[in-house]
Amino acid sequence: MSKVTFITPEGERFTIENVDGQRIREIALEHEVPGIVGECGGNCMCATCHVYVAEEDLPRLPPMSAEEDAMLDNTAAERRPNSRLGCQIRMTPELDGLTLYVPDRQL
Ligand code: FES
Repeated sequence: MSKVTFITPEGERFTIENVDGQRIREIALEHEVPGIVGECGGNCMCATCHVYVAEEDLPRLPPMSAEEDAMLDNTAAERRPNSRLGCQIRMTPELDGLTLYVPDRQL
């Protein structure tokens, strides 16, 4: 079963296991990872589930939709080439070991 690691701006790490089929937003909220808000309920309408994907993991991620791309222009923290929305990424065995950095702000 897959696992995912969140790293906060303070360097705190949260590794959560058995997450196949769940979206990054839901995993973070369920496990109280600080800094992920997900205000719109996962509908790609708020950009408060913003995460930075570890560079080495980028090639494994599915491409983003036009909607996610557009919404990423509304992030509170700076948008970077490795920015994604947590509500748009579902964990699969292919993403096992994914590492995500939490931005310093979402609002
Ligand atoms: S939860 Fe609102 S865009 Fe992801």
